[in-house]
Amino acid sequence: MFLVTGAAGFIGFHMCKFLLKKKFKVIGLDSLNNYYSKSFKLKRLSILKKERSFKFIKLDLCKSNKLDQLFKKNNFKTIIHLAAQPGVVYSYKDPKSYTVNNVNASKVIFELIKKYKIKNFIFTSSSSVYGDHKKYPINENFTFKPKNHYAKTKVKCEKIIKKLFKNFNINLKIIRPFTVYGPFGRPDMLILKMLSKIKNKKHIDIYNYGKHLRDFTYVDDVVRIIYKLSLREKRGVEVFNICASKPIEINNILEITKKILKKNIKIRLKRKRKGEMNVTYGSNEKLLKKIKYKKFTDIESGLKKTIKWYKSFSNKKVLNRYK
Ligand SMILES: NC(=O)c1ccc[n+]([C@@H]2O[C@H](COP(=O)([O-])OP(=O)(O)OC[C@H]3O[C@@H](n4cnc5c(N)ncnc54)[C@H](O)[C@@H]3O)[C@@H](O)[C@H]2O)c1
Repeated sequence: MFLVTGAAGFIGFHMCKFLLKKKFKVIGLDSLNNYYSKSFKLKRLSILKKERSFKFIKLDLCKSNKLDQLFKKNNFKTIIHLAAQPGVVYSYKDPKSYTVNNVNASKVIFELIKKYKIKNFIFTSSSSVYGDHKKYPINENFTFKPKNHYAKTKVKCEKIIKKLFKNFNINLKIIRPFTVYGPFGRPDMLILKMLSKIKNKKHIDIYNYGKHLRDFTYVDDVVRIIYKLSLREKRGVEVFNICASKPIEINNILEITKKILKKNIKIRLKRKRKGEMNVTYGSNEKLLKKIKYKKFTDIESGLKKTIKWYKSFSNKKVLNRYK
């Protein structure tokens, strides 16, 4: 039995779908917060709920007693912890929600994992823990240089894990995904924002004049990798970047999108925003070596699939709602 936290979220939804296709029993948990459209989260859940081996629990992870009950009732073999408050820009508007949902909520899960002696645990950190460096690609041993509050909460969690689970009998993986995209993606992130603006014939604000480099990683690759890592029996804490290791400039993303859509795109070039990294470019060598994952989706096919989904998605209005 798998427990997936953040199951109504972007990656959590795809993770559950993948596990259900593999015929596993999955409990998906989510607080359904309103950082972006709750209807969109419910839409994702309605797809998961079609599967009989899926059960959804609406719960805030900070509710430790209720979570304890859930652990007591179910014999979780593997926990994939994806729930969090994401987003760099919003972390300046509401830093508290990051402390609560990323640090405090994770602490509750950590204690229960110890109490119920869970065997396999995946903790989702982020590429943002690295900040900007002089040398690329960034491997898992590079130092933490978090640039914003979101990244700081992830660093904090990683440090707690390393202390708490030292000498503990567990296969624990800390994963650091890099700019994940794909169908049913996050409306607050570039790709869906861009598609919504194009559809509504509005200008897209492009920060840092489109010069940012991002290591875009397709969501199907991400969930396959997480699954493979969850099967990896290696006692102790291991850290893995999850990235295609093919950074691309935002200006190029716009060009590729234009070509796929055969449309012109209206953009408004803007200055860099506070807290954003200039470059995200990870090394995936460790991943390739330890779990032999090689076939990353290239950006053209990933974007084509995302655009195809976007065109077929009927309730596009919900994608305009995010904080
Ligand atoms: N999407 C990316 O590019 C990316 C990159 C690096 C790391 N990550 C990390 O991956 C994970 C999943 O991200 P996502 O993009 O799917 O985000 P998301 O916002 O779509 O999903 C997160 C889900 O967690 C839920 N949640 C938040 N606080 C909760 C709480 N206290 N209790 C229960 N549920 C709660 C939210 O309601 C949401 O549905 C996060 O940990 C995020 O930090 C994402």
